[in-house]
Amino acid sequence: MQKKVTIKTLRGMKRRSEKICMLTAYDYLTAKHVDAAGVDAILVGDSAAMVFAGYENTLPITLDEMLYHVKAVNRGRKRALLVGDMPFLSYQVSQDQAIYNAGRMLKEGGAEAVKLEGGEPIAPFIDRMTRVGIPVMGHLGMTPQSVHQFGGYKLQAKCERSAERLLNDAAALEQAGCFAIVLEKVPYPLAGKVSEKLKIPTIGIGAGPDCDGQVLVVDDMLGIFEEFDPKFLKRYANLATIIRQAVSTYVSEVKNQEFPTLDHSYS
Ligand code: KIV
Repeated sequence: MQKKVTIKTLRGMKRRSEKICMLTAYDYLTAKHVDAAGVDAILVGDSAAMVFAGYENTLPITLDEMLYHVKAVNRGRKRALLVGDMPFLSYQVSQDQAIYNAGRMLKEGGAEAVKLEGGEPIAPFIDRMTRVGIPVMGHLGMTPQSVHQFGGYKLQAKCERSAERLLNDAAALEQAGCFAIVLEKVPYPLAGKVSEKLKIPTIGIGAGPDCDGQVLVVDDMLGIFEEFDPKFLKRYANLATIIRQAVSTYVSEVKNQEFPTLDHSYS
């Protein structure tokens, strides 16, 4: 088996210009498959609210619900670094609450790091978390927990001023002790610039090829979650069609009494 991935491994990969590959997972079996296929990190994203639970956005999912998913994924993975996403309101209210809730991700969930959204304003929170031994992945650009603030899932940091702010935010997160930063839906030249400036790796989603790594939502790239089809997404399979074909064959075989035959029965 390949060596266990740690936050140190990711730092080394950036130094060697080796690309980092991350995918989301929310359950035991998916975690098993993506781990065996060689991803470096698994993110139990709060995107679970949408692709697992069917909510319209990521805001409703609770910390206890996230912990349920993190525990399941932890049982399925062996090699990949496990990152637990901190859901909305689990870290914004106070530093003490943020540390306690992030600690639960590690202590109860088995996560090896947490991810939280936001720039300079939450840097002091991240500083405290990393000082007590909680590795933190940052998340800048299109941060879905701020969907109402943004007025939709739009490309971020398009103008010079907001690009400058993102560069400052990235520097503040690095300074506060983040071991990596997700850059979501930002222009690729800016993502390249951030990646060049930082010593810690950037992991892009809709942020172009110059990030140090990439992340996608597993249900999007496998073509299970069909409603979501942004420009940045590449579908590596079309499992929705395969699932529907298999299930409709099963339905028709049961109704036509073609299944089960005696081959599938006990004497
Ligand atoms: O929740 C999530 O899946 C994420 C990724 C899209 C980065 O935050």
